[in-house]
Amino acid sequence: MEINFPGGKKLRLIVGDITRIRVDAIVNAANSGLRGGGGVDGAIHRAGGPAIMRELDEIRKNAGGCPTGSAVATGAGSLPAQFVFHAVGPIYRDGSHDESVQLAGCYRKCLELAEQHGARTISFPAISTGIYGYPLEEAAGIALDTIASRLRSSGCTVDDVLLILFDQSAYAVYSRIANARITSSGSAGSL
Ligand code: APR
Repeated sequence: MEINFPGGKKLRLIVGDITRIRVDAIVNAANSGLRGGGGVDGAIHRAGGPAIMRELDEIRKNAGGCPTGSAVATGAGSLPAQFVFHAVGPIYRDGSHDESVQLAGCYRKCLELAEQHGARTISFPAISTGIYGYPLEEAAGIALDTIASRLRSSGCTVDDVLLILFDQSAYAVYSRIANARITSSGSAGSL
């Protein structure tokens, strides 16, 4: 599914493996220790090679890690990208512990990093919806609203945002939520 924004900018929902899709910047769903893990994090480090963890070791030494709701940038090793932005999503508890603010913060910070690094295409996984247990429908709404808000702004230098869903059932949820927002905004093909 493709959603259009002013100036030819696009948000696309795609089913796939984020490590195999060429973009300028790939977003990782990391932890605040930046120590790697399973899920997307494991896949990104496996496909990208040890150079990424070497850069994270330096960041950890200097900054101690990365707070929840933010992200740090490294190179992408052998991944088909120039950068990896390691975003730390919230661990979902019950929704009343600032989870939505923190999750939105991840998307916002990664788009900011993209603009700072001159990345025009960026791919996101469904941050926090795996091991961190964020309910898919709520996470979809937050991801779509935060990305759309930036793509609508005239100062945005990112052209193409990809939301990569790992399986068809996650894709079905994200596209249903996107379609509902398009219908309620009343403008065809726009969010
Ligand atoms: N490409 C795209 N999406 C993927 C991939 C992949 N290769 N692998 C997994 N996913 C999907 C999952 O299906 C899920 O919907 O990414 C989403 C996020 O899941 P997780 O990777 O478990 O991330 P998260 O829930 O944010 O948990 C982060 O897990 O791996 C550890 O170090 C990480 O501690 C951190 C925690």
